[in-house]
Amino acid sequence: MSMQGSMGRRSSADSVCSLLMLILISAVCPVAPSQETGPSPLQCSVSPNRRFDCVPEKCVSKEECEARGCCYSPAGDKGNIGQPWCFFPPSYPSYKMFNLTQTDRGYNATLKRSVGTFMPHDIMTLQLEVLFETESRLHFTIKDPAKKRYEVPIPTPQVSGKASSTLFDVQFSCDPFGLIIRRKSSGLILLNTTVAPLIFADQFLQISTSLPSGYLYGLGEHLTALNLSLQWNRLTFWNRDLRPSKDSNLYGSHPFYLSMEEGGQSHGVFLLNSNAMDVLLQEAPALTWRTTGGILDFYVFLGPEPKSVIRQYQDIIGYPFMPPYWSLGFHLCRWGYSTSNCTRQVVKNMRDAKIPLLFSLQDVQWNDIDYMDAMRDFTYDQNRFGDFPEMVKEFHQQGVKYIMILDPAISSSNTPGSYPPYDDGLKRGVFITDDEGKPLVGKVWPGLTVFPDFTMPETFSWWYDMVKLFHDQVPFDGIWIDMNEPSNFVQGSVDGCPNNELENPPYVPGVVGGSLRSTTICASSQQHLSSHYNLHNLYGLSEAVATHYALVKILKKRPFIISRSTFASHGHYAGHWTGDVVSSWEQIYYSVPAILLFNMFGVPMVGADICGFGGNTTEELCVRWSQLGAFYPFMRNHNDHDSVSQEPYVFSSEAQKAIKSALLIRYTLLPYLYTLFHKAHSSGETVARALFIEFPTDPNTWTIDRQYLWGEALLITPVLEQGKTTVNAYFPTGTWYAPESGTGIQSKGQWLMLPAPLDKINVHIRGGYILPAQVPGMNTEESRKNKLLLVVALTPDGVARGDLFWDDGVSLGTFERQDYTHVVFLAANNILLNELIRVNSQADGLKLGMVNVYGVPSPPKKVLINGIASEDYSYTLDTKVLIIKSLSLPIGQQFVITWTL
Ligand code: GLC
Ligand code: GLC
Repeated sequence: MSMQGSMGRRSSADSVCSLLMLILISAVCPVAPSQETGPSPLQCSVSPNRRFDCVPEKCVSKEECEARGCCYSPAGDKGNIGQPWCFFPPSYPSYKMFNLTQTDRGYNATLKRSVGTFMPHDIMTLQLEVLFETESRLHFTIKDPAKKRYEVPIPTPQVSGKASSTLFDVQFSCDPFGLIIRRKSSGLILLNTTVAPLIFADQFLQISTSLPSGYLYGLGEHLTALNLSLQWNRLTFWNRDLRPSKDSNLYGSHPFYLSMEEGGQSHGVFLLNSNAMDVLLQEAPALTWRTTGGILDFYVFLGPEPKSVIRQYQDIIGYPFMPPYWSLGFHLCRWGYSTSNCTRQVVKNMRDAKIPLLFSLQDVQWNDIDYMDAMRDFTYDQNRFGDFPEMVKEFHQQGVKYIMILDPAISSSNTPGSYPPYDDGLKRGVFITDDEGKPLVGKVWPGLTVFPDFTMPETFSWWYDMVKLFHDQVPFDGIWIDMNEPSNFVQGSVDGCPNNELENPPYVPGVVGGSLRSTTICASSQQHLSSHYNLHNLYGLSEAVATHYALVKILKKRPFIISRSTFASHGHYAGHWTGDVVSSWEQIYYSVPAILLFNMFGVPMVGADICGFGGNTTEELCVRWSQLGAFYPFMRNHNDHDSVSQEPYVFSSEAQKAIKSALLIRYTLLPYLYTLFHKAHSSGETVARALFIEFPTDPNTWTIDRQYLWGEALLITPVLEQGKTTVNAYFPTGTWYAPESGTGIQSKGQWLMLPAPLDKINVHIRGGYILPAQVPGMNTEESRKNKLLLVVALTPDGVARGDLFWDDGVSLGTFERQDYTHVVFLAANNILLNELIRVNSQADGLKLGMVNVYGVPSPPKKVLINGIASEDYSYTLDTKVLIIKSLSLPIGQQFVITWTL
């Protein structure tokens, strides 16, 4: 039996393991000596880092702390919460485990507590279910066997059997109850929940675990470095409209972490719970999950590579949507394009700015709430945007796509009969209701509003109808969904909130504003599936799902949706932008870990507002931010209504040139970027990738969040500091080529200082890879028609490989229907060839026009194209670059290119 396995390494868990034997023999826990007396001073000698807070909900005196049966010891203020002054003694009563039984999926057991905690409504008897779902995935739940509690309504895989062999083993501690999960191969304990008592009360569920290392990533959305601080750090999850700031709950919730283990292995943990939550990190290292409802529903992913952990997580939440090709282009937006003519002028300015680079820069034009009539959804202002439909059609004629904003809140103070979205919604009962069953009224941009309940099937069809009617007038190409935390300008509702247990839970996580209703609707308002208290964190996700559904039905093409609020599984339906970041050097840096984390959360289509949203940018910041933004998977410049303009064309010609040259790199590499999105969609890979994910055995990479990769092969080193014209770059072991010259750097895993004048962003191509590229046209549509260019970056052994995914760029389900082309490129022994994995008609027009080979040690004597000698090539001795030109090789037919040395 696997739970008995891997006893190789002796550890402190041995005592637990001998208990385990007892469990197996008797299937009943030994009765522990009862602990009725208060803690003795000895039991309080817990080292500071291993103290777990016994009074999370208020400030207490020594007397009150001890009356709880806890230990009191004032301490300093480290981190954002500080070390607990009142903490659990090891003897603090927890659950005991009984009746551990083997099932055909894993184990079941009963957990019982005989003494209640300090929280109201302890659930004294619980059901533990442990499921060995796959070799690398363990799933365990702790529920109330007597009463069905709220569970997160996202679809997850249902596994009927039990994996025959696993990378983990599970040991059970009876008293106190706990799970100890180890990696069999190393014996390392990944989780040990015996470190603090389990609490499972109606509105307060808390479970703690040890962590195997201090290298922890995830747990978004927060303004943090990539590698989370374990210094008494509290991360709060309660989706909220707030300009990204430290130690604050922000727009989205992703209760998932990845932890690095010594040697470069890694594992992940996902708590599928959508209630208001805190996660507490401490240097022990240890982690506490503290949530205010639902059940404990944990998935543990054994990896062992970080890439596998991330894929295994996405096996649960769903792989990302495949974006339309055009969405990889440059998007331009601002709040304040106040008329259709002003919006037209923006597009015109962008096109005029193409001189001297013959490249218009722009693929997508956006409008903010300015287009609306009185800021109401599904309307447009007849004076300022009277010719709105014509404007959008003109953009289309110019090859520019169009996206506009929709906010979820629906204006509710119109003359009856004058605003169908409200009248119709009311009739169909689609709005969230208050405790009296009437639509809850809040306030957003248009004034008084009600909030659609996207957990109700009828709301899906109402939303579809509204979007469809609007699309019949204005042929937009995608939708921007904002304010969907949901944001509310009054606390709870215009009538406040009732006084009940959902509004005033016994414990309120560390939310900004101190109350659940802060900047949102009442927690006790009612939705179809449950209370808003339970569903709040799913509001943005549910709107994204409804919008995705509507767009698929209307466009019959791939939907493109960008949302502010998100929850686990969001990336399956939509992308994300990081909200109202301020134009500052601090925020440009924080955007890098934010983008990398969302890629780990399965939301690869993500970007920050380039040049910053709030406040005024400077030319230098905007140039640096555009250079970085050229490597955000989602590239959009967006600005607040009262900030100085920041479109590329408002800056000096030097600045414009610098921005364009970064954009040119992006547009040149679109076939590579698109192929990466395909890999995200088809196999849960990251697009923007943290270095540690690609180089997990190199601990130098574990904290790097000022550089990142596109996929495996492109290293991006932006300048994130004011006034700097050099940048410190880490190069993991290998060869790295600068594409502007083709010269290579051999690194043994080193930091190098690189020149980075204002007109340059450093990017490097990794030896061993082949990148498909294209000379850019006016926009993505034009670019797609150009000939392909292969950048072949050889290792010192002369080897490289890469691939291209290609389809029509817009149709639904091309991968699923196998209507695509997939070609692998291989280089070795001075030969480059393609291997056709799948070819469809889309490949017909696409031809290979040029090949750049980096790292060719000596001048070729001849170059053969499909066996025929070619003179159209050049070789540069000092850079060792071979360029083969004037090719015209259909990508869907086999070719062989040889250079003899
Ligand atoms: C919110 C959005 C922002 C938008 C504004 C007006 O602040 O985050 O991007 O410009 O609302 O709609
Ligand atoms: C309001 C909104 C917020 C937005 C801001 C714009 O505070 O709640 O979403 O960011 O205005 O400046």
